[in-house]
Amino acid sequence: MPIRKPVIVVNFKTYPEASGPGALALAKLCAQISSETGAQLIVAPPMLDLAIVASAVKIPVYAQHVDSVQSGSTTGHVTVENAKASGALGTLVNHSERRIKISEIHEIIDRSRRAGLATIVCTNNLAVSRACAAMEPDFVAIEPPELIGGDVSVTTANPKIIADTVLAIKGISKSVGVLCGAGVKNGHDVAKALELGTDGVLLASGVVKAKDRRAVLLDLVSGLKG
Ligand code: G3P
Repeated sequence: MPIRKPVIVVNFKTYPEASGPGALALAKLCAQISSETGAQLIVAPPMLDLAIVASAVKIPVYAQHVDSVQSGSTTGHVTVENAKASGALGTLVNHSERRIKISEIHEIIDRSRRAGLATIVCTNNLAVSRACAAMEPDFVAIEPPELIGGDVSVTTANPKIIADTVLAIKGISKSVGVLCGAGVKNGHDVAKALELGTDGVLLASGVVKAKDRRAVLLDLVSGLKG
């Protein structure tokens, strides 16, 4: 399924309130908001909830991580093929909370491309963003680690890293989309991210921990409209 841009990617991480029945409820709410507003939303539920969430919603469901190993005689891993068979349409790669080696990033992008799984590679700085863009994932998501889970959005705290990343990546490959994340909380942050040249945002706590998730999601989506 081709992803329409701009996009809002909601990573549930392993937050207890977004796991098990909570994962299903949040994914269904995101799907509802997407169908009401026409906005492109993607959800990344906890790994063990992926299959059940994917079978319950029509919006794209992504894995939070996959391993670079082959399917078959490998125990305790999540392979690209496993994720795909469970209903994932894409995967996060190298999230700040699940860093992997550059050789593994390359292997996963390559294997995912062959399997028809989209990839969002998370990066922490310009040098890593450049290196990952050269591997041509679907998206690079710049997320300064120190701002993750905080109250100040990367779009306010460090707009320069976003603008620099967009410029660098577009100079390497026009087909790689750019997302930004860390501390994104509202429609203003989303609008700013787009103004800086990105194709959307990747966020977690702003939605998962919100008292009124529906209101927050509607506000975030309003930022896509420019
Ligand atoms: O994957 C999204 C993420 O790392 C940003 O988290 O809680 O700052 O939106 P948060």
